[in-house]
Amino acid sequence: MEIVPLEVEHLRQVLDLGFSVFDVNTKPYTSWSLTTVAEHLDTRDSSCWVALDAERVIGFVLGSMEFELRDDWAYLEWIAVDPAYQGRGIARRLVDTCCEKLFASGASRVVTDVESSNTASATLMEHTGFTAQVTVTLFVRPNPLKPTSEAAKTGLARRPLIRSGRLVGDNRLPNM
Ligand SMILES: CC(C)(COP(=O)(O)OP(=O)(O)OC[C@H]1O[C@@H](n2cnc3c(N)ncnc32)[C@H](O)[C@@H]1OP(=O)(O)O)[C@@H](O)C(=O)NCCC(=O)NCCS
Repeated sequence: MEIVPLEVEHLRQVLDLGFSVFDVNTKPYTSWSLTTVAEHLDTRDSSCWVALDAERVIGFVLGSMEFELRDDWAYLEWIAVDPAYQGRGIARRLVDTCCEKLFASGASRVVTDVESSNTASATLMEHTGFTAQVTVTLFVRPNPLKPTSEAAKTGLARRPLIRSGRLVGDNRLPNM
């Protein structure tokens, strides 16, 4: 197993691995898409890596220097390891590789977010130097006239084209 920088030729496998492990009907995985992966490749100082077994992508991490409008905070946004390869320390190596590059790029801290029931991800982060800080709970008020449809449950309610993932920023310069 080797860890190498994410390249365009890995896109298809990264996208498919993400779709196989992320529930795209549930926050925070709803924005997983080709655009999400591609915009990381297009982003300044990104830190995106894949774990390879021969030519096969068995894990990936997508990080960037883009976290909200902070110039000095980096964001480790997506990580996944093929279930057949989990529990072997691959995610730990991906996290460490990703963070080393982000710190070398000038990040004063790396931020990540973990869905509250994701024990594997929370343990991974706690064991790689992250500490829990702010907790944000998504409160949902359903429209009483529009009960959740079968289409929504099966993902057919997703927008056909996702123009942007969770990276944010408007390229405005800070106020001087
Ligand atoms: C989270 C995930 C990436 C971990 O990958 P992994 O390669 O199995 O993790 P590692 O083997 O490197 O383990 C790293 C640490 O996390 C802990 N860990 C991993 N899976 C765990 C689990 N299911 N329950 C509890 N702890 C777990 C390990 O004990 C290890 O800590 P240690 O080395 O100090 O004992 C993997 O479970 C996954 O791909 N999940 C689905 C995608 C996902 O939820 N991604 C996160 C949100 S973007």
